[in-house]
This record gives sequence, structure tokens and C-alpha cells, in this order.
Amino acid sequence: MKIEANTNITIKPSDLYDETIDHSGYIGKPFGWNSPFYGEMDDFRIYDVALNEEQVAALVYEDMTDTQIVTAAKDDLKLEDTDIITQNIKLPTSIYGTDIRWKSSDTSHLDNNGNVTRPLMEEAAIVVDLTATITKNDVSHIKDYAATILPMDAAPYKIEINASEKGADISPYLFGLFFEDINYALDGGLYPELVQNKSFEYLKSEDDAMVQTYAGLHAWYKLERGGGVGSITTASTSSIHPNNPNYLRITATTSGTGVGVYNTGFPDAENTSINPTPSMNIAKNELYNFSLYARSDYYTGPIEVSLTSADGVIVYAKTLIEGVTSEWNKLSCVLQPNESTSTARLQILMKDTGVLDIDMVSLFPQKTWKNRENGVRHDLGKMLYDMKPKFFRFPGGCLVEGRVVSNRYQWKDTVGPLEERKNIHNNWAFTGAYPYYNQSNSFGFYEYFVLSKDLEAEPIPCISAGISHPEKGSFKPTTVPLDEMDELVQDAIDLVDFANSTDMNNKWAKLRADMGHPEPFNMKYLEIGNENGGDEYYERYKLFSDALRRSHPNIKLIVSGGFGMNDDINLATWERMQKGTIDADIVDDHYYIGSEVFYEKMNQYDNYDRNLGTVFVGEYASWGNALHNGLAEATYMTHLVENGDVVELAAYAPLFAKRNYTQWGTDAIFFDNTSAYGTVNYYVQKLFMKNTGDITLTSEIIKRGNTSHKIQGAIGLGSKNTAVEFSNVKVIDNNSAEVIFRDDFSSDGSDWTAMAGTWAINDGVFAQTNTSIPNAHVYTGHIRSENYTLTLKARKTSGAEGILINLGQQDPNNYLRLNLGGWGNTKSGFEKIVDGRVRLMTPYYDRAKYPIVVDNQWYEIKLIVTGNRVKCYINNELQFDIIDRIKSGPVYCVVSKENTTGDIIVKVTNPQNTKQMVALNFNNIDYINPIGLKTVLKGNDLNDANTFDNPRNIVPVTVRINAVSGTNKVELEPYSFTIFRLSTVEGNELEF
Ligand code: AHR
Repeated sequence: MKIEANTNITIKPSDLYDETIDHSGYIGKPFGWNSPFYGEMDDFRIYDVALNEEQVAALVYEDMTDTQIVTAAKDDLKLEDTDIITQNIKLPTSIYGTDIRWKSSDTSHLDNNGNVTRPLMEEAAIVVDLTATITKNDVSHIKDYAATILPMDAAPYKIEINASEKGADISPYLFGLFFEDINYALDGGLYPELVQNKSFEYLKSEDDAMVQTYAGLHAWYKLERGGGVGSITTASTSSIHPNNPNYLRITATTSGTGVGVYNTGFPDAENTSINPTPSMNIAKNELYNFSLYARSDYYTGPIEVSLTSADGVIVYAKTLIEGVTSEWNKLSCVLQPNESTSTARLQILMKDTGVLDIDMVSLFPQKTWKNRENGVRHDLGKMLYDMKPKFFRFPGGCLVEGRVVSNRYQWKDTVGPLEERKNIHNNWAFTGAYPYYNQSNSFGFYEYFVLSKDLEAEPIPCISAGISHPEKGSFKPTTVPLDEMDELVQDAIDLVDFANSTDMNNKWAKLRADMGHPEPFNMKYLEIGNENGGDEYYERYKLFSDALRRSHPNIKLIVSGGFGMNDDINLATWERMQKGTIDADIVDDHYYIGSEVFYEKMNQYDNYDRNLGTVFVGEYASWGNALHNGLAEATYMTHLVENGDVVELAAYAPLFAKRNYTQWGTDAIFFDNTSAYGTVNYYVQKLFMKNTGDITLTSEIIKRGNTSHKIQGAIGLGSKNTAVEFSNVKVIDNNSAEVIFRDDFSSDGSDWTAMAGTWAINDGVFAQTNTSIPNAHVYTGHIRSENYTLTLKARKTSGAEGILINLGQQDPNNYLRLNLGGWGNTKSGFEKIVDGRVRLMTPYYDRAKYPIVVDNQWYEIKLIVTGNRVKCYINNELQFDIIDRIKSGPVYCVVSKENTTGDIIVKVTNPQNTKQMVALNFNNIDYINPIGLKTVLKGNDLNDANTFDNPRNIVPVTVRINAVSGTNKVELEPYSFTIFRLSTVEGNELEF
């Protein structure tokens, strides 16, 4: 429903933008990192629901004539794939306000409402003519379709698998986890400490965390019981450790039944962290370790420790501890509640008058995952372990960078005794609603390494490169001056020693041993910086890489690859990799994008140079946690596996989000103080981690009636806003040397069909002379060979761009194209046009490497096609060698094999709303057990999701299936991600 409209607007979106305020989500500033929109707008409307594509289009057609509307409706009217109909189809009755009537030529197989009756098994397919009459008032147009109704036993798709042809060696580290303390993931989350602000060091972030003020009493409240009178304050003389300067001083002037404090714990209820409602979650009969440091010159009496209801009336556990002396002294006890509740508070009371100093107050469940003393929350740790991640990247993210460099994450502040670690404010406090978001650092680098080990995952630390996080309005990142970088570089060297050294004379190796882990952690990877770029980053990165290559040459170094797919930083980093001006093993690409973009960009890594360095997709997610997000990610991940030789590591992000305390909207696991659930995205990750395989097998999805995925079809010539000339076009079959096609333009050019442009033949030259046509294009013939060579000469005579050569054209909207001198004649690349949408096949970073076009200079172009591979020579020099692995869907798959079991794993997504039968054809295989496992993740609607109320709405289900080879078919549910696991070893039992 439209709720507001204004057609006379003078204000610009950018006028709404004030760079000193975080306007994320405001009109004109959609997201933190995006620039404001500096444009103008007219006819401004607000709706209370998001409009769908058709509703948006209807708005566009509001001011058009009936003829224009009917024409547009005819153009845009689409049916699902009518070549392979196996079930009822939807026949729209209206579009853009038109009326649509349907007429079928054979209502016994397809009636006028779209109901289908399939021919019986082994009968032939039936082709039905379907006519739509589209009417608006007095104007009508007709649109015809041919619908092929498949017989009962026919599968519309087949997956051809060549079991003896290896594709890629899949990296053993694909896929893993990325953990960051964002969304209250650590303190109040994975780290199960129940006391908030236990060391009285909390900072409150002001001004979006650019400035912090001391908030040492946050989450603590004074208690005066039974006539007791006293005061509480923080103090800092003679503290436990300089890193932990503040503590709590309780003064009891009248004892009553007790003077002291209570702590609320970490909240999970709505209304921000300012809400003082006690929210400790305690379980009946579980054991909780309580401890504090105490000191007093004026109090030696007992301290009463209790767990009570939110108002303090009901006592769930209580004990007295003694032993206060004039020196800081750790006192402890165990509490065992007699009830379960999620709204408990922890009370600490002096039982007599006096002055008592306390610090490092802790209440920690004995039950942790793997029973680690300073470990992680049991349910959350188990959820991670159950995924079977191959690596664990920590501790961030932007967190590493710091809001300013002085607030960067420094691993040395997070190791050693807990009371000697430094509390710092959290980067993610900046969103304003979470001003008290701090990092106690009680879970620090030692604990991260132990957790990685417990998860059986490679630890991948990320450290600050000495540059802070840049995204606050006009605020520029701060940097550690180059001449002060030695300390950071030394920290990196020491980190490797902390993780790996066995030399107990090394201070950091000894610290690790003293903390309980004499054995090395065998860290293999280290990442320097997060999403950093620009000269200031690259020159700092070099200081690290130079030093680390000398001190620890076996460590693989990871360099930042930017924020956003193919953004400027990404491009700059990869170009430096090409030029050899960065010494890194792996580039860390990050992107958060719409689910539809994952389909568009599936081939991102298909043609990456395998000798340049590998890829870490360190953070990726589609915006949201609905089924369509999970399916888009699963589809994209099939291609990450296909490219598992160059994509060495990949991790969805972020990992955790706390209910009501979430700053980032794409998360794998949601939790509150009492429960947790996995999102669809979590299950997609988990399924991939458990079913990655070691090698890919070459495979192809072929739609019924189509030939296989080879570069076959018409050839084309073209340009964009450019005058071009072509001559001597020749295609020969590489096997027979037969000339399949030739045109020396000595005749009239009638072999060619012109789609757009001004084309003419003069003196053996085919010329396109219009410089203002964005897609001038002619095509001819149909090359059926899959092994052929196209040669021609081409030149540009004037205009903005360069020369286009098309191959494998199925129709004018589907082909592969060499774009020589594209992007304003600054770059060159290969592209694939799928349903009119352009996808870049050559790596984005690569485009500048290839020649651009010089006016009036003839180029000899040779394209050698073998199957789905093209080698392109320009003036006899090899320029491109690309493989077309782009799958056009709507079913997507990857096939891999596991070395240890010999199992073949077929992962396939069906993001459409119809069930699909697929024939799985295994070629070149001796044995395959027809009884296999089928695991399906599916939903009824693309917007379905898991929630706290319905946490298992969409979860994978595994069943045994019979018969998957030969002519047998498997079924793909609508909106599903399916994994088939099949044994190739006789006698091997498949495990559920
Ligand atoms: O995952 C959330 C954030 O996204 C990470 O901190 C950062 O690296 C990226 O910008």
C-alpha cells in the first residue's frame, strides 16, 4: 500500500546526508561504507512493503499509452522454461494492468489454465502451441509459445559425470570459520563468563566510539540489606596490574545484613545494554566457579556470595568466603543453583563494617565445551565443532584494525594471567545503540589457538597492519608512523614464536607453555591487516613480509584484498600480485552482496591465474538469512569448490549474532543467553564443510534436447559506440582442416544478420560506421564443430571503445565475447552474455594486462576453440587462454570425490519453485553402489528462515536412496540444496 507520495521534490538525497552522523539505512545513504547518493529525485513515494519487480515495472508504465503498455507487457511476459515441462505451469492472467487470455492447441496435454497431463512412459514428448492474447482496453497483442510436455519417465536435465577425469585438486582447507567479536559474539556470547565488566575497566563509547569515557561501574549496582548503609566507587591506587588499573571499593558504614553490589550479567533482552535487568542464565544443579580478587586493610570479615532472583528475593545459591588480607588475594568458591533461571543476578556482600577492594569478579560455568577451564559456551562450541571447519580465522575483521590505531587489537594484551590482560572498548560499539560494548580479552590469543585445536581447524590469526578502520564519515584512518612500525612487526614475529616455537628460552614460547600448552600450535597462516589498501597499507605490509620471510619463511602470508567484490583495493592488490610488488601467498577477498549477485558472479575465480597466489574468500555472505540467501551461497560455493585449486580458503561471515545485540545482518548462528539456532546459511556451510571432497570430477548439467556445454553456435562481429572494420573471416575445423565458413567480403554480406548498427561492405571490408550504437552486432552461420579456429582481421576507425568478436552464439542474448579495447578502450577481456546479462570471464584484475586498440591499425585475431576452452592470439601472440565454466542454470552442481572413502559427492542446487528430475550419468567408472545417501536442505518459500521461535524450520534431512546410476533419475525438490553421496568401493558402508 502506498502511504505517502510527493511529486514536487526539491531536496536532493545528499542533502539528507550529514557526514558527522552515521546514516546507515537512511534515504540517500544505504549502508555504512557506501557514499551518499549525489543525485536528484522526483516523484517520491513511500510504500509499507517492498515492491516486487512487476509492481516496480507497473509504476514505470503508469504514464504510457495502451499500445506502449501492451507492447511492454508482451516483451516482458515470461513463462518458466517451456522446453521441458513436467508439471503444471503458471500462466499469468495479467501484467502491467493488461488482461491475458491463454489458448492451447492441445488441451488434453496442456489446458488453458496451465494444467499438464504428461504422455505415458516411453511415449514421445508432445509439443503444444500456446497463445497469449494480451489486452488493454482496445489494444491487443498476441504472443506464441511452443511448450514441450515430457513423458512420465523423462528427466528434463542430466548430469554427465566423468568419473575418471579429475578437475581441480581441492584445497584441504576449504571451508572454514571466521570469528569476530561483533554482535556480542564473545563476551556475553561464546565466552561464557556471566559477570559483565568483571574488572571495572569498562569504557562507554561516545561519538560513535571515536571517544570513550570511563564507565567502571557499568552493570554493577549498590546493595544495602537489612539496614546496612554504605557506598561504592572505583579506585585505582595499588591495583592488581598496570594493565588492569581500576577496581571496586565498597565501604560499609553500617553493616545491617550486608552492604555490597550485584552484577546484572550480559543482557539479551530488547532495549540496549543500558537496560539493568539482571539476565544471568543459570541451570539447576550445574556447578559455577566463583572467584574474585580482594584486598583490605580495614576488613577481614567474610564475603557473602549468592545467586538470586532479579529482585534479590529468591536465593538460588549462597556461600561465605573468607581470607581477605591486605594484599590482593584470589578467593574462590563453587556455586550450585537449586533452580534454573535466565534472570539471576550475582550478589557480593560484606557482612560487617569496613572498606573492601575487589577486582576480577568471575562466575564461570564448569560445563564448557570440551570442559576447558577458560573455555567456550557448551552449546555454541558444539555447533562450531559439528560443522567440521577446516580453519578458524580470528579475532576479526574490523575489530583488528581499531577505531583508531591505538585501539587496535594487540594480541600481547590478551595473553598471560587474566588479571594482567587489558580491557578495551569494542570497535562495534560505534553503532550508537551499544555504547558499553567492551572486550575483556579474557578470551585471548591463547584461547583462540586452543579453540582452533579443539575444533581440529587450522588457526589463522589476523593482525593489525598499523592502520585503523576508515569508514566513519569523513574520518580518515589513523596510521602508526612508518618509523614506529618496528614494534608491530616484532609483535608479528613474536606471535609466530608464541604459536610455534619449541625453544623454551623464547619468552613467548615459554609463556605458551606456562599457560598450559608446551606443544606448538603449528600455525601455518598469518594475515596482515584487514580490508586495508592504498600505499600506506602496501608499504606497511612490506615491512611485515620482509621481516617474516626472514624469520619464519614457512608461514603463508595473507594480504588484504579489499571490501567488495572487485573493488578498487581488490584490483590494486591483485595487480600488485601480478607485478610481483607484493610478497604474499594469498589474497583475502571480502564481499557481502545480494543473493542474485552470487548467481551473476559464480565464475569469479574460473580463470584466475593459478601461478599468481591463491584466494582466501575471508568473508562473504548474501544480505540475509532466508532460504534464498542460503541457496545463492550454496550455488556460489559449488563454483568455489570447482575452483578449489585456487580458492584455498573460504569463510562465511559473521559467525555469531546475539539476539537484540546485532550490528551486522548476515550471520550464521543466532543466540541469546539461553538458546541458539543455526540459520539456513549455517546449514549450507556445514553441509559443504562435511562434503567438500578432495578432487573435483568433470561434470556437466545438460538440459534435455540441448547439446553439451561447448562453444558451438554462430559467430559474430560488433562494437560499442565505435566504428570498426573486419576482413577475411575464416573458420576451419581443427581435426579435418576443412573450411567451415569463409567470407572475404567480396559479395553482398547476405550471410550475415545485423542486430544493430550501420553495416556495409566495401572493397573486401565489412564496416560498421555508427559511433553511437551501444551494441552494434552481426552474426552468421552455426558452427557445430567443437574444435575449430576462427581467424579474421579487424580494426577500429573511430569511436569510444574497441572491437567485439562473438563465439558460440545460441541466440542474440546468449554468447561468448572477446572485448578488445573495452571499458572506454582502457582494458580487454572475455565476457559471457547470458540472457542478455554480461558476465566477465577473465579475472577483473587481468583486464589491464591485455592490449587495447590503436585507431586504424589492423589486428590479426585468431581464436582456437576446443570444447569449452578458447585460446586467443592477437598478431600471433597468445593473449587469453580461458575456460568457459559458466553454468546457466537453473540447476547448478559440482561433483567431487573423497580420497579416503572413494565416495563421489554430487552437490546440486535447485533455486526454482518447481521439482526437477535429473538423470545422474556416471561415465568411466567400474563400480558405483546404487544405494546412496541423499541430504536435502529445502523450504516452501524463498523467504523461509529459521528463527528463535522456529529454529528447525529449515534443516538438512538425510535419507538412503536407491538407484542413482544408469538411466535412473533423482529428484530435486523445489527451492532445495541436495547432496548425493555415493560409494565407489564395494562393501563400503556410507555413514549417516
Ligand atoms: O564481518 C563483519 C565485518 O565485515 C568485518 O569486521 C569486516 O572485516 C567486514 O567489513
